[in-house]
Amino acid sequence: MGLESWYDAHVMPRLVTLACSQGQIMKRRSMLVPLASGSVFELGCGGGLNQQFYQDSLVSSFAGIDPHEGLLEDARAHARARGWENEIRAGVGEDIPFPAGQFDTVVCTYTLCSVDDPKKVLSEIKRVLKLGGRMLFLEHGKAPDENVHQWQERIEPYWKRMAGGCHLTRPIGSALRGAGFEVEPLGQGYLPKTPRIAGWMEWGVARKAGA
Ligand SMILES: C[S@@+](CC[C@H](N)C(=O)[O-])C[C@H]1O[C@@H](n2cnc3c(N)ncnc32)[C@H](O)[C@@H]1O
Repeated sequence: MGLESWYDAHVMPRLVTLACSQGQIMKRRSMLVPLASGSVFELGCGGGLNQQFYQDSLVSSFAGIDPHEGLLEDARAHARARGWENEIRAGVGEDIPFPAGQFDTVVCTYTLCSVDDPKKVLSEIKRVLKLGGRMLFLEHGKAPDENVHQWQERIEPYWKRMAGGCHLTRPIGSALRGAGFEVEPLGQGYLPKTPRIAGWMEWGVARKAGA
């Protein structure tokens, strides 16, 4: 294994998990994730950082996918420790390994920035949601200020290589609306004490339209 693939397989996922555990990010998770209810599916569940925020009284079942098998071991261990029946599998959002209409809630935090094909992933999320189902999203992405956005464009090619394919310039709310979701924003803004290029956050509820 070359140094680059060793970094990608072992170091990068742990660094990304560390970055995603900082206090202000955990605060935003704590405002969103407890809204999950019914049969819950977490896309890009990583090592299970969100699990501490689910409300046992609201969640009837838990499933998750992530392409990083090493991280999934942590996610499974957290779920077992909570006594959850769970289906945590290796997989990608472009081809979600669950049947149509299975979930009440899809939770997607800091994942749309990293997938290969966000449009395909959003269409897969709609497929696996029940009618009336909700997607809870918390993502970083394209900043509304032109000067910040220009810096995002400049830095993104280098950032992507260091941060596991994470993009800085992906739109969030508009991408969800473009995919046909009805979006209820719950918050947005730059994360304090974070470089603005990586600090623009949007979170909220996206409903499968027509439900
Ligand atoms: C920044 S981490 C966020 C992890 C977790 N969602 C969280 O909030 O802590 C991005 C995650 O997306 C996962 N990922 C990358 N490409 C993916 C894809 N095509 N489908 C699903 N997950 C993917 C990565 O393995 C990683 O766990």
